[in-house]
This record gives sequence, structure tokens and C-alpha cells, in this order.
Amino acid sequence: MPGTVIVGTQWGDEGKGRFTDYLAKESALCVRYQGGHNAGHTLVVDGEVFALQLVPSGVLYPHVTPVIGNGVVIDPAVLLAEIDMLEAKHIDTSNLQISGNAHLIMPYHQELDRVTERFLGKNKLGTTKRGIGPAYADKALRVGIRVQDLLDPKIFREKLDLALREKNGVLAKVYNRLPLDADEICDTYLAMVPRLEPLIADTVHLVHDALDAGQHVLFEGAQATYLDLDHGTYPFVTSSNPVAGGVGTGAGVGPLAIDRVIGVAKAYVTRVGSGPFPTELFDGDDVGELLVERGAEFGTNTGRRRRPGWLDAVMLRHAVRLNTCTEIAMTKLDVLAALPEIKVCVAYLGEDGTRYEHVPYHQSVLHKVKPVYETLPGWKCEIDRVERFDDLPAEARDFVRFVQELAGVPITFIGVGPGREQTVVLPRAA
Ligand code: IMP
Repeated sequence: MPGTVIVGTQWGDEGKGRFTDYLAKESALCVRYQGGHNAGHTLVVDGEVFALQLVPSGVLYPHVTPVIGNGVVIDPAVLLAEIDMLEAKHIDTSNLQISGNAHLIMPYHQELDRVTERFLGKNKLGTTKRGIGPAYADKALRVGIRVQDLLDPKIFREKLDLALREKNGVLAKVYNRLPLDADEICDTYLAMVPRLEPLIADTVHLVHDALDAGQHVLFEGAQATYLDLDHGTYPFVTSSNPVAGGVGTGAGVGPLAIDRVIGVAKAYVTRVGSGPFPTELFDGDDVGELLVERGAEFGTNTGRRRRPGWLDAVMLRHAVRLNTCTEIAMTKLDVLAALPEIKVCVAYLGEDGTRYEHVPYHQSVLHKVKPVYETLPGWKCEIDRVERFDDLPAEARDFVRFVQELAGVPITFIGVGPGREQTVVLPRAA
């Protein structure tokens, strides 16, 4: 079965979009399986920048059918704005397919995301405040409203009234906010139906038809392994399952539909929002500042500065296991070019001196571990025009081989710049 998954191996913002875009050219379908507009994928094609939140990166190829799977949570206004942005840039979006089973992000989800974060004070999660957590919570509580409900105004109104009865009570009585108006929400959402209706489809069917026909299907994860609700640094995680296993529920396929899992790892690590980060380089650290500046490490959507750190091979190795990665795509190697030396975390030391070669399951331990680094020489020259692995400086090749050894699977792609063409493909992937 020719299914490929692209999954982030860190805390997101690894640059998955550019590899999805790269691999989409050989695919018939490009399927998002989880998350919502908390994601931000920046693609640079012929110098033009595309910032995508919901639409799968494959949209940029006319032959690809972009699919938003049932595991995604959708703010329809954001989706339509994204479609308008793409159309204004002459990208045809007419073959976009949205699962009728995907859940809708409603205005009360966004409001609750904002007020609960405020309520948590110093314990806040640092969410994107897009309503992601509350929307997934309602899905699990079985009071969510789905895309297909938009097609039946009576059902939509009934479900909305039911939800608002509880949400407005919570907003008013717990958080001292004004209640939301059902008529207004109904009008806003139903007004979007004429544009959305032609895009709503049975996406499970589409995916299986493509797989049965031997066509290539690319499953595109948003966020990443350590933001996974089950396997990430809970509670500082998102509310869906970005790991490769999430494709099963989020797109409606079994594990045997997938034969390739590409874990995307940045040559260093960043994280936005709160939570443990063993290799973090704190504010004021010169290397940290350089990574943020050279890597333009600011959120695509929120503009938030990302927390920088050295590459963590302990986490990478664990991510390879969690996702059954068949290979690694390394991004932003060019960002390290200015550094005289480069560190890679190969193990952790616990507070009591215990050495960890794996990610300790207990969060209290993870919060306090100190990274054990190996230091490698830098190459101190720009590599953004390099096209072949053998043309990289010896120190850069050694760094890649070192990380590959620690990860336990081959590195098959290396990003040396933001452009679609700035990708070094290693022979093993050919
Ligand atoms: P939420 O997904 O908005 O609920 O946010 C939960 C956590 O996931 C926060 O720490 C966010 O910063 C983080 N997060 C969500 N989406 C992304 C992403 O696309 N890249 C990086 N971090 C993200």
C-alpha cells in the first residue's frame, strides 16, 4: 500500500510543510489527519511565500487532491479565508475535499481557550488560543458539531442550542463573560454553507479508492510527536494525536496502509508555549539568539518567539520508535552554518546522577534532567546552494552521519534553505 506519513519528531515547526510539498509531487492525495489552524506551514515556491494553516501543503500542485480528514478540527471562516488567499495567488482550490465527519471549531471554543488560559495563570499551557483543546474536548464528550451538521440547518441549530446552554453557563458563571448569541452564530456559520458544501466529501472513501488504485497517498501531520496528547509532554501538548498512529483514526486507514514514515527533525530544536525542554538555550544565550535570528524562529500564525535549543537525539530516537519512522528528513541545516561548534544531546543526567539513554516517562524527572552533550566542529560557511550530499563541507556531513547513527534510521533528505529546490536528497531515498 503506497501510503507515506510525514510527522514532526520534535515540538512542531520542524518544517514539515516543505517536505510535504516536496513529496506531494509524486502523490495523488495529500491528507491532513489531525490538528486545526493551530498549525502553520510556510512554503516558499519560486520566491513566493505561502502560509498555510488548514489546507494540506499538496494544494500547490494541480494534480494533487488536498484532503482535510475527519481527525481535523475546522474553523470554517479560517478555511474560507485561506482558500481566498490561495485563489488570489492563482492556486486552484476547487478540488479540496473536507470530511463531513470533521468537527467544527465554534466561537465558544475560542472564547473558552482564551479564558481558561487566563484562569490557569502561571500554569497556563501557552496554547495558540484557537479553540483547539475545547473543540476536541467536545468531540470526546460527544457534544461536538460536525461539518456535516452544516448541511442540515435544523440539526445544526439544535446542536448549537444544546451546546450553548452549557457553554454560556460556564462562560457567564465561572469566567464572568458575556453569553454568546445562538442566532448570530447560526447566521454566521450557515452563511458559509454555499461555499463549503461543494467541498464536503466522504474522504475515507477517497483515500481508500486511491490506495486501492495503487496511487500514492501522503498523510500530513500537524504539530509533532512531543505535542501528542498521549505521547507528548502532557499537559503541555495539543489535544490531538500527531504521531503516525493518528493517521489510523484521523484519516480512516489501518496500519498496513502505510509503508513509509518520514520523521522531520530540525538540525536543532525549538518549542513554543510552556513545558519541559532539556536542551533549551535560555534567553540571552548567544547561540540561542543566533538560532532564533538565522532560523527566523517566530510562529507562522501567532508571531510568538520560539524557545531554541540544541538537537536532542534522545528525543529523536524515541520519536523514531513512537512513529516507526523509516527515515528522517533533516531541516534547516543551513542555520547552523555560522557556529564554530555544534552540540548534540546524546543522553540525560537525572538529579540523582542516573544516566538516561531514553526519555524518562516521569515528567518530574524530565523537568530536571541535564543534557549530556557531544560537541562537533562547525563548518563555518554557507551551504544554502549545495545540491548534493558530497558537496557539503566534511563537518556538515559528519554532523548528519552522527545524528543518523543516534536516530537509528537513515537521513534521506536535508533542507539547506527555505526554497522548494533547496533540498539535498540522499542516494538512499532515490
Ligand atoms: P493548542 O494546540 O493551541 O491547544 O496549543 C497547545 C500547545 O501546542 C502549545 O504549547 C502550542 O504552542 C503548541 N502548538 C500547537 N500548534 C503548534 C504548531 O503548529 N507548532 C508548534 N507548536 C504548536
